[in-house]
Amino acid sequence: MQRIFSGVQPTGNLHLGNYLGAIRNWVRLQNQYECIFCMVDQHAITVWQDPKDLIRNTREVAAGMIAAGIDPEKNVLFNQSTVPAHAQLAWIFNCVARMGWLNRMTQFKEKAGKHKENASVGLFAYPNLMSADILVYKATHVPVGEDQKQHLELARDTAQKFNNDYGVDFFPLPEPLIFGAATRVMSLRDGAKKMSKSDESDYSRINMTDDADTIALKVRKAKTDLFPMPDSLEGLDERPEASNLLGIYAALSDRDKAEVMAQFAGRQFSEFKAELVDLAVSVLGPINTEMKRLMDDTTHIDAILKKGAERANAIAQPIIRDVYDIVGFLRP
Ligand code: AMP
Ligand code: TRP
Repeated sequence: MQRIFSGVQPTGNLHLGNYLGAIRNWVRLQNQYECIFCMVDQHAITVWQDPKDLIRNTREVAAGMIAAGIDPEKNVLFNQSTVPAHAQLAWIFNCVARMGWLNRMTQFKEKAGKHKENASVGLFAYPNLMSADILVYKATHVPVGEDQKQHLELARDTAQKFNNDYGVDFFPLPEPLIFGAATRVMSLRDGAKKMSKSDESDYSRINMTDDADTIALKVRKAKTDLFPMPDSLEGLDERPEASNLLGIYAALSDRDKAEVMAQFAGRQFSEFKAELVDLAVSVLGPINTEMKRLMDDTTHIDAILKKGAERANAIAQPIIRDVYDIVGFLRP
């Protein structure tokens, strides 16, 4: 059986990178796989979250997914903390995965920065919880943006080591699904940094909650260089900001980069940006309106998440029970 699991941290500022790198792909996969989509609130608190904001952001991510076209009846939608089996399996994986493996994780290095000694233990162990998220459902495929590739390799290594250590063929080795013209959307202010929820400049990203005027302003202010659109992709090698905007246009219009480039070759970026604004507003506008409508009725969202939690628990509980037996935890 083929089963998908994927997650988003409810840390606010859901952005175009989340949409193009992840959520939009999930919408397309929901008809081919059994899908489980999760607001990973336990991952969120690896860095400080104000409790009220965490609750609001959890609902907002759910609203964003539904507004983008994820069907909450067909798929399982829930928040991580409502299914204790994630944390239960994460502890076991803390004892399977090696320090050396986690020490190599680039996301920890980026997030902990210079103050490694001051980072939470949870931030370091984060990838083990992520492996547990996936494997507690025996998910086979994980659609994510490019930045999660290394974590998925760790999940595969952990599944393999668990199977070897206990002499079982229990966990599948989950496959990443990374596809589309924008698997790594970069900041609008700096083509060397990825677009992220935590960038202090709101001009670095287009949020899924931005209205048309805000989108227009951010695209107009997006960093570019003085040259026009080239006529070959090699002409973009040294131009990360230009390349990023082209990738965003291609992804939003469901075309490839070369095709969009041919359409704009020789034209100034100011003209290209004007068309990008129209395109972005036409795709994100309806999602934005629907998100706002859903956020006005939190009881409806909460009912969806409650039902999702029941369905997720029903899948995860028998699996964690089997894991406990394999590990040798006495059930008196
Ligand atoms: P996060 O915001 O870190 O919880 O990420 C949620 C999903 O969005 C993951 O699948 C990420 O890989 C994806 N994602 C986050 N930022 C980007 C980005 N800048 N470009 C493409 N995908 C992204
Ligand atoms: N680490 C992912 C991110 O920051 C979020 C995440 C948590 C996730 N658990 C997951 C993604 C399991 C896929 C599968 O984007």
